[in-house]
Amino acid sequence: MLHDLLNRPLRNLRLSVTDRCNLRCNYCMPEAEYVWLPREDLLNFEEISTLVDIFVERGVDHLRLTGGEPLLRRNLPTLVSMLSAKAGLNDLALTTNGILLAEHADELHRAGLRRVTVSLDTLQRDRFIALARFDEIERVKDGIAAAARVFGRLKLDTVVIKGVNDDELVDLIEYGRSVNGEVRFIEYMDVGGATQWSPARVLSRQEIILALTERYGPITPIAEHSSAPADRFTLPDGTVFGIISSTTEPFCRTCDRSRLTADGMWYLCLYAARGIDLRAALRGGATPEEIREIIARGWQNRDDRGAEVRLGMGERRAFVPIASLRQDPHLEMHTRGG
Ligand code: GTP
Ligand code: 5AD
Ligand code: SF4
Repeated sequence: MLHDLLNRPLRNLRLSVTDRCNLRCNYCMPEAEYVWLPREDLLNFEEISTLVDIFVERGVDHLRLTGGEPLLRRNLPTLVSMLSAKAGLNDLALTTNGILLAEHADELHRAGLRRVTVSLDTLQRDRFIALARFDEIERVKDGIAAAARVFGRLKLDTVVIKGVNDDELVDLIEYGRSVNGEVRFIEYMDVGGATQWSPARVLSRQEIILALTERYGPITPIAEHSSAPADRFTLPDGTVFGIISSTTEPFCRTCDRSRLTADGMWYLCLYAARGIDLRAALRGGATPEEIREIIARGWQNRDDRGAEVRLGMGERRAFVPIASLRQDPHLEMHTRGG
């Protein structure tokens, strides 16, 4: 197993299959226009499969498909069946905004997908439109219902923003319970793409716990040793929920995840300024052995702890200026996979 300079293993790969999205969530894609990755640069399924094989040989056993919105990638179930057939993978999951999920849930499950996370920031129609720019709340709820039916359970990811949806924590927990969904509240992060971010808009983990304690009574942390970003808690009635506190209490120390963009750039941290171009290696004729070496060298030299570094900064504002995002769309969260 490969370890980086902080002794963190390479285990989790987040694979973005497209940088396109059918929503424009304010915390991720608030701008009017975007620069997209050139289509000819997107890895085809064979190329993705080849790279995943090499990652698996190097220790990756958890794979999550992300976007943009991954269900916009044509024939995604074909890719899922190619990936689910790989012996070394213990976990194959998908993060989606849910709009197209009702259409595809059965087929994805048949192809071997086992876990789904749906982003859900509000239950209110007007607010959904204000937050995500499209009137899609009903299709998202249909997608969630389909996922509950097909996969049995799911996770719901909520980015909490002060003054936007911080009054919906209880409603979301109750809704989660009704669809067998484990809700995870995510602190608003100053990632690339979050050009409207400011510290004043972050509802912290402590504030989330306080608000839920007021409503439900004492909340018990679940003790578990894992590298997962969410810390999990139990309400007095047994309901489990999570908090992902990347902004105020980052988990870089145990971070075993890296990201492959749809065009084959490998990023060792959500906040990394530069990636490693695996597409160029693959299309330039590098052998699997050579790519294995590139991955090994990359990981063994990794010392990234982007969220911790951001936390250590004095005055904090949006991470990347818009002009830089236009010059290099790889800096965008929707390109790196949320
Ligand atoms: P499981 O634990 O396998 O269920 O998945 P997950 O929690 O990694 O997946 P998900 O895609 O639901 O991630 C939840 C959110 O956590 C992301 O959308 C990000 O907001 C945040 N997150 C995920 N990975 C990272 C990371 O590497 N660093 C930081 N700082 N935040 C992350
Ligand atoms: N802060 C926190 N999470 C974010 N995501 C995207 N942008 C941000 C941000 N600025 C994550 C959310 C969303 C997923 C697609 O990406 O979890 O649900
Ligand atoms: Fe990992 Fe970077 Fe996220 Fe820290 S900021 S948890 S090192 S991806």
